[in-house]
Amino acid sequence: MTLRLAPDPAGLTVAADLLRAGDLVAFPTETVYGLGADACNDTAVAGIYAAKGRPSFNPLIVHVPDIATARRYVVFNDVAEQLAAAFWPGALTLVLPLRRDAGISKLVTAGLSTLAVRVPDHPVGQGLLAAFDGPVAAPSANISGRISPTTAAHVIAGLDGKIAAVVDGGACTVGLESTIVACDPATLLRAGGIPAEALSSCLGHALALDLTPQNPQAPGQLASHYAPVGTVRLNVTAPAPHETLLGFGPVDAPLNLSPAGDLIEAAANLFDMLHQLDAMGAAAIAVSPIPQAGLGVAINDRLRRAAAPR
Ligand code: TXA
Ligand code: MG
Repeated sequence: MTLRLAPDPAGLTVAADLLRAGDLVAFPTETVYGLGADACNDTAVAGIYAAKGRPSFNPLIVHVPDIATARRYVVFNDVAEQLAAAFWPGALTLVLPLRRDAGISKLVTAGLSTLAVRVPDHPVGQGLLAAFDGPVAAPSANISGRISPTTAAHVIAGLDGKIAAVVDGGACTVGLESTIVACDPATLLRAGGIPAEALSSCLGHALALDLTPQNPQAPGQLASHYAPVGTVRLNVTAPAPHETLLGFGPVDAPLNLSPAGDLIEAAANLFDMLHQLDAMGAAAIAVSPIPQAGLGVAINDRLRRAAAPR
């Protein structure tokens, strides 16, 4: 059975003990819930791939409490120093050269010479990292290819009985996975919770772009991903009678990402509303147009994957 743990010191102690024992623990971050394992324990990391049904070529993000700890595992360059100083803790993952002597399981990097690292901005996620006192590998805590979880209930819906525990820290505030940047040269690998515009203005120049599906550097960018059970049609201003509209802005819809047209609110609602559409049994989902700027870039990326042929 999967334990539901409270986000208090007692719950975090149990969660950290489970991680030390090589078990899997889902925990909240500001982006989405992560499915955590001891990043130095091969068997534990293998358990992540098994629980998610995830293709084994897909490398994982390692979570650490601060920049100083990140330096034990990866080598920073100037780009990484600037971005980490500006955006950590936060929804930014940096891909940097791995320190091979640091003890990170090779299953985490899937054989790459680089490691993806992130410092989450969430009191419960940070509490777990402090209690465990080690690097935690964590992809999103969902079955591979399905909608990412932004509540403990979403985690349980997909992974109950397959993982040791979930720490319930309420709903995630950002609601979209972290933005992933390779640092040499600065290259956007995945649009996410921090808009690319914010990264360019920090660095003083635009980032290169490498969002190619199946790019070997970011194999998580599979075309079909984040999929609800129903079909998904995008940029719809006039839904057909059989379609359930997922609205954005001032439209009449059973579910609306943000009636006010606020992209931050829409990002925070996106995965929860896709889960709600599943729960409603929506067989044909239509989605209002979302502006392709700021967080809209990441929202549209997730929606395109949800709509991709499966
Ligand atoms: O917000 C997030 O990033 C969440 C929370 C839990 O932190 N995690 C998350 O992990 O979204 P996941 O496993 O669903 O996505 C990890 C992405 C994948 O697309 C993977 O290919 C990419 O990170 N990645 C991991 N290591 C990499 C590396 N060395 N080089 C390039 N891409 C890498
Ligand atoms: Mg994921």
